Amino acid sequence: RTTSIIGAPMTFGQPFVGTDAGPALLRDRGLRNVLTSLGWRVEDLPDLDFDTEQVSDARDPPNARNCSLVAQGTSKLADTVESKLRKGHFPLVIGGDHSVGIGSLTGILRVIPDIGIIWVDAHADLNTPATSGSGNMHGMPVGLLLDHSEENAVDFTKLPGFEFLIDGPRISPDQIVYIGLRDIDPTERLWIRDYGIKAFTMYDIDHFGIGKVMDMAFEHLNKGNPNRPLHISYDIDAVDPLLAPATGTKVRGGLTYREAHFVAEAAAQSGNLASAEIVEFNPSLSDDGGASETLELGEQLIASFMGKSLL
Ligand code: ARG
Ligand code: MN
Ligand code: MN
Ligand code: MN
Repeated sequence: RTTSIIGAPMTFGQPFVGTDAGPALLRDRGLRNVLTSLGWRVEDLPDLDFDTEQVSDARDPPNARNCSLVAQGTSKLADTVESKLRKGHFPLVIGGDHSVGIGSLTGILRVIPDIGIIWVDAHADLNTPATSGSGNMHGMPVGLLLDHSEENAVDFTKLPGFEFLIDGPRISPDQIVYIGLRDIDPTERLWIRDYGIKAFTMYDIDHFGIGKVMDMAFEHLNKGNPNRPLHISYDIDAVDPLLAPATGTKVRGGLTYREAHFVAEAAAQSGNLASAEIVEFNPSLSDDGGASETLELGEQLIASFMGKSLL
C-alpha cells in the first residue's frame, strides 16, 4: 500500500503560533523511514501551501477567528485528501491544529460517506460559531460537519471561505466515537447526550480499562458492517500533558503512554483503517526537552496506528 504524507501546517485555528511547525519537525525526525520500515510505499508530498498572511479580513466573525485563513487551508486539504483516496492511497495528515480536521473529514466523506470516525481527544471539538466560547476553530471540526437538527444548523454563508461546506457532506451522530474526553463545554455535553454520540471519557477508561473501551468503540462503529472503513483523528492533547507537554490546550489526567499506544494499535489491528490524522503539536509551547519528547511520542503513535506491532 501507498501512504501519502500530507503536511497541513495550520496554526490559525487557535491563538498560538508554532502549531504550523508540526509537519516539518516530524519529517525531519525521519517519518518517511518509520513508514517504509513498516512496509509502506511512501509518497512524501511537500506541505500544503496555506495562506499565512493575516488578511485581517474584516468579514471574519469574532466567533470564528481567522475564518478565511482556516477555510483556505482546509478546502485545499479536503481536495488533496479526496484525490489521494481516489488513487487508493492512505492519507496520513500531519497537523497543524485540529481545525485541519474540517478538511480531512470533508475530503474523506466525499469518497467514503460511511467512514467510521475514531476521535481521540481531551476535547469534543463539537462547537459551532454559535456555541464556541473562544471562537477558536480548532474546537469546531466535528461541530461544523455534524448533521445537525434544524435549530442547531451552521450558517456557512456567514463564514467567509467556507462556502464549500454549504452543500458538503456531513457526519451522522452515530458515525463518530470519542476516546479520552475530559474537557467538554456545556453545549457540547448537551449535544453528545441529545444526539446520542458515543463518547468514552477518561472516567470510562478508568472504569473499564482501555481494552474494553476500544472493544466497545469498534462494536458501535462496526454495527452492521464488520469491514466498515475507519479514520482515526488523533489530537496529541488526548495524552497526559506530563507525556505530551508541547501542545496548546493541555488538560491534566489524560491517556498514559500505553493507553495512548493501545488506542493506535487497536485502530491498526481492526484492519479497517483507511486514513489517519495527528494534530496539535506546538513545539514553541514547551522547552526543548518537552518539545522533542512530544514529537517523539507523536512519531511512535503514528508508527502504532500505521501498523507497528509489539511482537
Ligand atoms: N472547547 C474549547 C474551545 O472550543 C477547547 C477546544 C480545544 N480543541 C483542540 N483541538 N485542542 O475553544
Ligand atoms: Mn499510486
Ligand atoms: Mn484537544
Ligand atoms: Mn482536538
